Amino acid sequence: MRKPIIAANWKMNLGPKETEAFLSTFTGKLDNLTDQVDVVIAPPFVSIPAAIAALSSNSDVAIAAQNVSEQDNGAFTGEVSTMMLKELFVRYVIIGHSERRTLYGETNAVINAKLKQARVANLKPIFCIGETLEERDGGQLEEVLSSQITEGLEGISEKDMKEIVVAYEPVWAIGTGRVASAEQAQEAHAFVRSVIAGLYSSELAEKIRIQYGGSMKAANGAELLSQPDIDGGLVGGASLEPQSFLDLISAVAESE
Ligand code: 13P
Repeated sequence: MRKPIIAANWKMNLGPKETEAFLSTFTGKLDNLTDQVDVVIAPPFVSIPAAIAALSSNSDVAIAAQNVSEQDNGAFTGEVSTMMLKELFVRYVIIGHSERRTLYGETNAVINAKLKQARVANLKPIFCIGETLEERDGGQLEEVLSSQITEGLEGISEKDMKEIVVAYEPVWAIGTGRVASAEQAQEAHAFVRSVIAGLYSSELAEKIRIQYGGSMKAANGAELLSQPDIDGGLVGGASLEPQSFLDLISAVAESE
């Protein structure tokens, strides 16, 4: 049985003050929801210290970074290392988000290096994959996912793979309000799991949690999560207000 994992990806939203305000409302209403659902929040780097401080008495909510450098340290202007994140008690890191791939040119090779670097520091990667509408319409869905997974995970050991969460985010559903149907998402998730089974084993693939991302919210979360291979969500827009994120987590918890 895979415990659902819902992660907020705030992207470039919510500075330190807003983060503090969000979390004081959010943790006050979270009750025992984390018994049924793992909850992760990924603020911008500069808001991470405020998030950690606001959560001091609530370690049930894990903090993630939205990106990390594949380098150890040195002359890499604008970058943040895994060790810096560890020092702040960050537990997860989003790697290979489609916005990083398309806007900042991250290739499967760079993403692979970041995944390895994260695992050396014992951070849990949320490894993002997903196709564009052009690729889906052009019949390339499986080819694209397969190469993102195979090249992204090259050289990642079975032991490290067990600590990775995969996020399937169809690019055409991100921030568009156009959610993939539960069937479309399930089909893609089952395919992702089969590729992981081929690279590792079916036993390991059955243990990996695969999140769906793309216009997920309270109104569609339970239906998506009811699919056999959908184990959580990576949530943008609906995670920016405490109540809307709580509603989604509650909907998922109730459907468990
Ligand atoms: P939206 O939920 O805003 O579509 O964003 C999804 C996403 O990109 C999460 O990483």
